[in-house]
Amino acid sequence: MNGSEPTVVGIAHQMAGSTVRLRPVTEDDLEMMRRFAVEPGLIGLDWAGFRDAAAPARRFAENGYLGEQIGGLIVQVEPSADSRAGYVSYLQRQNGGRAPYWEIGIVLLPEWRGQGFGWRAQALFCDYLFSHTPAQRIQASTHAENAAEQRSLEKAGFQLEGVVRACEFRAGAWRDGWLYSRLRDDPSPL
Ligand SMILES: CC(C)(COP(=O)(O)OP(=O)(O)OC[C@H]1O[C@@H](n2cnc3c(N)ncnc32)[C@H](O)[C@@H]1OP(=O)(O)O)[C@@H](O)C(=O)NCCC(=O)NCCS
Repeated sequence: MNGSEPTVVGIAHQMAGSTVRLRPVTEDDLEMMRRFAVEPGLIGLDWAGFRDAAAPARRFAENGYLGEQIGGLIVQVEPSADSRAGYVSYLQRQNGGRAPYWEIGIVLLPEWRGQGFGWRAQALFCDYLFSHTPAQRIQASTHAENAAEQRSLEKAGFQLEGVVRACEFRAGAWRDGWLYSRLRDDPSPL
């Protein structure tokens, strides 16, 4: 990098032999987004029945999945012939006061799981959001039985805040959520 180039925070991270990169959704990604909507269980425990398969194209046409309050980025792993590994999402939320925080989510395609990409993508995504927005807090919630996401969030610099009781109706029952956060001043693991 020469001295005049800006430092771009939170879009790529190199690991042994691979680079994990976050980038905007393109038209070619819409097939994966449609699969998430209509393939039972592909998104993991968050599967809540069939969703509108035409919605991804509408969202893409509206703002390229880059809305001010809701949107997401593609997780890409290079070098790979088909490097599209999954998707990370952001949603603006607010308690009292006037300053919002972010809630993030992630899904990797099954063939990309368990190789160290999930925690890195979430850590990168936090660095990206903290770099480009003044948010103080990023939160993420997961399920009691989702050991992979619990560990992945911890490795991405999140701390468990507690159990939110009966917060989601899923697979025929009301279930607890595990709430995690990473604050701006918490160290980035990258
Ligand atoms: C959850 C998810 C994002 C995690 O990403 P990943 O790439 O699979 O996880 P990583 O390879 O980064 O692993 C991070 C840590 O979790 C551990 N881990 C991974 N899969 C695990 C599993 N199935 N059970 C227990 N621990 C697991 C890893 O060993 C690693 O910890 P370690 O370094 O101490 O060994 C990914 O598995 C996924 O997309 N799952 C389906 C969708 C989902 O559940 N999204 C979250 C909804 S709340």
